[in-house]
Amino acid sequence: MSFDRSVKIAPSILSADFADFGREIQAIEAQGADWIHVDVMDGHFVPNLTFGPPAVKAFRKHVKTVMDVHLMISPVDAYIDAYADAGADVLTAHVEAGPHSHRTLQAIRGAGMKAGIALNPGTPAEAVEHLLDLTDLVCVMTVNPGFGGQKFIDMTAKVRKLREIIGDRPVHIEIDGGVDPTTAPLVVEAGADVLVAGSAVFRGGSVENPAPYGENIRAIKASVAG
Ligand code: DX5
Ligand code: ZN
Repeated sequence: MSFDRSVKIAPSILSADFADFGREIQAIEAQGADWIHVDVMDGHFVPNLTFGPPAVKAFRKHVKTVMDVHLMISPVDAYIDAYADAGADVLTAHVEAGPHSHRTLQAIRGAGMKAGIALNPGTPAEAVEHLLDLTDLVCVMTVNPGFGGQKFIDMTAKVRKLREIIGDRPVHIEIDGGVDPTTAPLVVEAGADVLVAGSAVFRGGSVENPAPYGENIRAIKASVAG
């Protein structure tokens, strides 16, 4: 995984057909997805439950791009090796998930993955300031985590602040929640480069009719071009 700040679209398979993940991943990659975003929820840190390491390992067989695993779980550390074994390229934990994010990020890198740190809407940019040398990606939540299809919360000022404190470090800024062709330009202009999108990408398409996936991805990319 080489680093660059070009805009990447990371469809969240939370909006895919849960009975057909393999073909959904193949379809969305064929339609232009840059990364695949996998939302892991534990019914404790967030009020919803999705998949664990064996499911993520099964997804891996179909992912040819980058598997970006977003952990909405607490605690985190006991599961890091399981997600490394499942084949995560990027593993992101929430800074709110426990008191020892520094240790968590060290452990993620130590297990051979890129280390991400996510911030809920109520958490300031400064919460990760002293973690940036251990971090490959900061995920700015633009919804309260737990569900797809929620309304975008404007975190543009936080993105701008992060861009400033990241400086020259090779750290991605990812936006997660409510990204569509209307909201994407706001966050890209502020310095984001990875855009997670669930409902805005999967809307109108299916494994049998995947062309809308491509149209949706291109619409987001066009909204931030130039
Ligand atoms: C929210 C998840 C997001 C979500 C995005 O808890 O982390 O990745 O699936 O979905 P949309 O794009 O529909 O807001
Ligand atoms: Zn996510």
